[in-house]
Amino acid sequence: MIKYETDFSYDEAITLIKHPKHFRYFESRNENIFNSHLYHVLVKDELSYVGYGHLDAELNKLWLGMCIFDSHQSKGYGKAVLNHLLNIQTIYSKINLTVDKENIAAVNLYISNGFRIISQTDKIYYCERNYNV
Ligand SMILES: CC(C)(COP(=O)(O)OP(=O)(O)OC[C@H]1O[C@@H](n2cnc3c(N)ncnc32)[C@H](O)[C@@H]1OP(=O)(O)O)[C@@H](O)C(=O)NCCC(=O)NCCS
Repeated sequence: MIKYETDFSYDEAITLIKHPKHFRYFESRNENIFNSHLYHVLVKDELSYVGYGHLDAELNKLWLGMCIFDSHQSKGYGKAVLNHLLNIQTIYSKINLTVDKENIAAVNLYISNGFRIISQTDKIYYCERNYNV
């Protein structure tokens, strides 16, 4: 069973997340930004932490970030965490994210759950999803 834990510190988050390859969010975000999140969550199964996710309002847009820790990937947690994050808020009508083009698992996850690519650089897709899809 998945549990969602919302009461944790910046230090706890970055210790657990440890900058996996495709999740660079905390390389350039400090504790002040962490504390200003609309929502953040650590995800647990019966035995251990399996992932992290957040919703961050920045520049008038809502941004989603998430990662499933290495040894827990491809077991359905990503889909569960994405759906959890999509059901948290009712203020914004759209939600945005960026994803590395080479991160095939994440691109598949987002596109199959209603996100569409709205722009891109050579390495990154910018994606958006309407809440009423
Ligand atoms: C991308 C990520 C969130 C996916 O989570 P996950 O728990 O591994 O994925 P799930 O088991 O829930 O699978 C959900 C969907 O993702 C896609 N997916 C997952 N693993 C995949 C793989 N190895 N290859 C291709 N697609 C894959 C599929 O669309 C899958 O749906 P399906 O099972 O119906 O085919 C996770 O691998 C991760 O956190 N990776 C590292 C950090 C990261 O990339 N964060 C996102 C930054 S934008």
